[in-house]
Amino acid sequence: MSGSDGDRGQREVIVPKGLFDITKLSIVRAHGSRLVADIGAEYLDFASGIASLPVGHSHPEVVKAITAQAQDYLHLCFNLTAYQPYLSLAGRLNNLAPGHGPKKTMLLNSGAEAVENAVKIARYVQKREGLIAFQHSFHGRTSLAAGLTGRVRAIKAGFGLPHPGIFHAPYAYCYRCSSGLTYPNCDIRCLKGLQDLVRYSIPAKQVAALIMEPILGEGGAVVPPVGFVQGVAKFCSDKGIILIMDEIQTGLGRTGAWFASQHFGVAPDLVLTAKALGGGLPLSGVTGRAEIMDAVYPGGLGTTFGGNPVCCRAGLAVIEIIEQENLVVRAAEIGSKLKQGLDQLKEMFPIIGDVRGLGAMMGLELVEDTASKTPAVEATKKLFETCLRRGLLLVSGGTYRNVLRLLPPLIVTDDELEQALDTLKAALTEVIG
Ligand SMILES: Cc1ncc(COP(=O)(O)O)c(C=O)c1O
Repeated sequence: MSGSDGDRGQREVIVPKGLFDITKLSIVRAHGSRLVADIGAEYLDFASGIASLPVGHSHPEVVKAITAQAQDYLHLCFNLTAYQPYLSLAGRLNNLAPGHGPKKTMLLNSGAEAVENAVKIARYVQKREGLIAFQHSFHGRTSLAAGLTGRVRAIKAGFGLPHPGIFHAPYAYCYRCSSGLTYPNCDIRCLKGLQDLVRYSIPAKQVAALIMEPILGEGGAVVPPVGFVQGVAKFCSDKGIILIMDEIQTGLGRTGAWFASQHFGVAPDLVLTAKALGGGLPLSGVTGRAEIMDAVYPGGLGTTFGGNPVCCRAGLAVIEIIEQENLVVRAAEIGSKLKQGLDQLKEMFPIIGDVRGLGAMMGLELVEDTASKTPAVEATKKLFETCLRRGLLLVSGGTYRNVLRLLPPLIVTDDELEQALDTLKAALTEVIG
């Protein structure tokens, strides 16, 4: 499983240990859904750069668009001069994002930067500072985004106190309900957590925004009930709180809709994109209602490289390919094929406590036994490693480090889906017996 000794040695000497080194691989080539390592081995990529490659590695149309743009100009800085790739992509996002009425988009470099800017805009508009986020969420690793993230391990631990004014409410993580109840009999009790926050912790009038992932990504592919997401949206509109939907992982087709918010019939005030948007290049966006996006004074927002022309051309190509190849529908199909196969594995291997997800964003939560639901952390690690040794790259995750996630590119073939399920079955047999 380990990469070449040369790369290993260099990594240890040159790069800080704080960066994850999950697979120990060094990759030399990647195409479609496949990776080739320096040791010659080939891998089926069900991580896709952590949900960042909807059209796979080095799609020829993306490469063509990038190359053409590189020949015109690489960088101008949108603060200084306008350019068409930025305007075209921002326009596309305005049209695609959920909700009616005029919208505007600003482009940035990374997911965390989109989170930071959405919060700046919301605080400026509202003249309030408080922020609500959810337990189990992930919003990035800059200091404010890490503060919003609803998990301590590997995000906040050791990095000082989080920013003041951030409050976390329970998410509808039904497999591990914080009230010990079962959906739908629970009447979505977790929504009460929001009322409790504005009753006991911060007056609603001091809350600028609430940020939520419509489906938890790093939290382990947790899909909440429709009533939960709609209840959150209603809470925000009742209290005059800006709803920021973090669709950095779910956006642009991955879940079988352009935006996962659409599964829940919710149109947020601001929606965040990144990952898939650049098709492998660093790019993110904040899209929202024009009157909110326009509120900040000229010069109050900006970045040197955000909306870089080469990245925007890649983004435009990605959206075009998703449309032409009908990949939003394909994502839903991938979801049902994977769900069917994973449910069969659940019947065979009781270590699989829960199979969940939507579209090409599926997760398996692994437990010591189905009654206690004790997280099977070691087995998760072993399964991840065994799948990798057998040629399948997955992503692990979840607050309790016991979720294996399947995040294939949306161009994955049926044969590759079968191959992934077969590998997972063989790995489960090898590790669990
Ligand atoms: C939902 C969500 N928000 C924000 C981020 C942060 O994005 P980035 O790593 O580009 O800063 C991620 C990254 O995994 C994410 O999944």
